Amino acid sequence: MTIELPALPWPKDSLAPHISVETLDYHHGKHHQAYVTNLNKLIAGTPQENASLEEIVKNSSGGIFNNAAQVWNHTFYWNSMKPGGGGEPTGAIADAINASFGSYAAVLEQFVAAATTQFGSGWAWLVKSGDKLEIVKTGNAETPLTTDKKPLLTIDVWEHAYYVDYRNARPKYIDTFLDSLINWDFANANLAG
Ligand code: FE2
Repeated sequence: MTIELPALPWPKDSLAPHISVETLDYHHGKHHQAYVTNLNKLIAGTPQENASLEEIVKNSSGGIFNNAAQVWNHTFYWNSMKPGGGGEPTGAIADAINASFGSYAAVLEQFVAAATTQFGSGWAWLVKSGDKLEIVKTGNAETPLTTDKKPLLTIDVWEHAYYVDYRNARPKYIDTFLDSLINWDFANANLAG
């Protein structure tokens, strides 16, 4: 089946001033679209042409994996943010964070450290591993989807995610993501799913 670029889950101007329309024009309209276009070219005429995106990510390597994982990771990232997001979690995810990390402050510290220290391009994730929540980071297109850990939330720390709005100030982008954008409803839905 043809892999489609999903629409953004909120209006393109609704994350401003934290994430600008210009960033999203490039990040969703060009980068995410390019991964979709490349993936469709690479799987055309192969057995993976009829597989779901998740199946392709879990059963591929090389260029097919890189493009498929980036398609999946970006869709997950858009849903990890919302207009008016940010701040402390509520509901089951708040209880799970307290049980696994001890406090919201402690999970924040680990998340910021992972997102800041991911050298070069990659991602930081909140995941469920067995009965516990963990923070992990992945390089380039790597994704917890290929492991036994269940992704709950992610932040894209490729430069293309923040360079237009924050230039080289990755820590400021990470702080803004946590203060004003992070979508705990999505984490709660993934935890329950
Ligand atoms: Fe990205």
